[in-house]
Amino acid sequence: MATNSGLFSRNFKKTFPIAVRGEGCWIITSDGRRFLDASGQAAVVSIGHGVPEVGRAMAEQSSQIAFAHTSQFHTAPAEKLAARLLAIAPPNFRSGGRVYFTSGGSEATETAIKLVRQYHLEIGQKDRYRVLSRRQSYHGSTLGAMSVSGNVARRAPYEPLIADWGHTAPCFCYHCPFEKTFPQCQLACADDLEVHLLEHARDQAAAFIFEPVVGATLGAAVPPEGYVARIAEICRNNGILLIADEVMTGMGRTGRPFAVHHWGIEPDLILVGKGVASGYVPLGAVLVSARVVEAFERGSGAFMHGFTYQAHPISTAAGNAVFDYLESQKLFERVIPAGKNLRDALSPLQAHPHVGDIRGLGLLLGVEFVKDKVTREPFPKSDNIAEQIRQACLEESVLTYPTQGCFDGHRGDHILLAPPFMISPEESALTARALRSALAKVFSD
Ligand SMILES: Cc1ncc(COP(=O)(O)O)c(C=O)c1O
Repeated sequence: MATNSGLFSRNFKKTFPIAVRGEGCWIITSDGRRFLDASGQAAVVSIGHGVPEVGRAMAEQSSQIAFAHTSQFHTAPAEKLAARLLAIAPPNFRSGGRVYFTSGGSEATETAIKLVRQYHLEIGQKDRYRVLSRRQSYHGSTLGAMSVSGNVARRAPYEPLIADWGHTAPCFCYHCPFEKTFPQCQLACADDLEVHLLEHARDQAAAFIFEPVVGATLGAAVPPEGYVARIAEICRNNGILLIADEVMTGMGRTGRPFAVHHWGIEPDLILVGKGVASGYVPLGAVLVSARVVEAFERGSGAFMHGFTYQAHPISTAAGNAVFDYLESQKLFERVIPAGKNLRDALSPLQAHPHVGDIRGLGLLLGVEFVKDKVTREPFPKSDNIAEQIRQACLEESVLTYPTQGCFDGHRGDHILLAPPFMISPEESALTARALRSALAKVFSD
């Protein structure tokens, strides 16, 4: 147990090494150990650790103007980053869209919840306030974001504090909530949104929020063809806004600027975080499409919301430097080949009797461990398999992101792999070797 730490750590029963330096895909600790960051921490780090240009851009901005409150000023780095984000967003953002910068993903979700509520007030739909979401999802840790999250374990202690606006079925073919198979299922999970709207929330629903690829909760679960288009259509037909939470999937992580690009849909809001600053500063954003902006422009003109540190000049300067690096090093283009490489390296592990599924898109991959491969039955929660795998990979100096609960909120073990975009074939091979060794250790019986 850490006794000499002043930090209110995430877990008092664990000790944490001190990270002192980062280089590309590697993190170096104060005792000289080197760890391959195969999870990009929590799917955050895209350009790699230790890029000096980002620090230089922040120092330069700080020497000019470090802070100016958004009730009084806009700043050049924030304007520049907003324009760049809108330029890579779907067409309905590019002309007349705007960006609301926050300090991370949860603040982006909070902002979106309030924004869709006020949008409906602006257009005279005063009864609409419910933000519908899916079970088995994660949209952040603040109370509003928890209300729209369906992650059972992360919600459990706070249930009395959390609003209930309605949850619909997850889209997860490996453990289909309807026990059906695609395409015979005819996308029953998407239609569940329509059923919910008809039965519970037709006139009160304001929006539907979803992760295009479900990250932390389901371990990179990719929807089948047609799912995303169907939910977009249901939202449009029912007069509710569609929020794509791309905090994990955005900024190139899945091989396109935003994951929604894979399916050619136009959400009304896109949330970003994590990769937008690659971990160099706390930064998130809500991309607001032109139609939503117009409602505010024509209506009250003022969004009743704000954070002291929104659109911070140094954070947005860092965001621009990360963007510059992504472009100059052609890192957006590297995601598909690097993702294929990592997946190829992992694919022999699929034969292991306890590797149920290897899934994902681009450089957001998940590996799920099951007790029985035929029935897909998970291990008991108390076996703590995901954590055991993490620990065994750590002994091989490889960092992974473990989670339990993908099966039913309690059971189901997976790890997430989401390395920096420049991961080399050798580093992918090292990741696969570490996982092979972890499987041998954890399932030695
Ligand atoms: C999809 C998604 N949305 C929102 C969040 C919350 O972001 P943050 O932890 O930056 O508040 C996360 C974090 O993991 C996430 O994965």
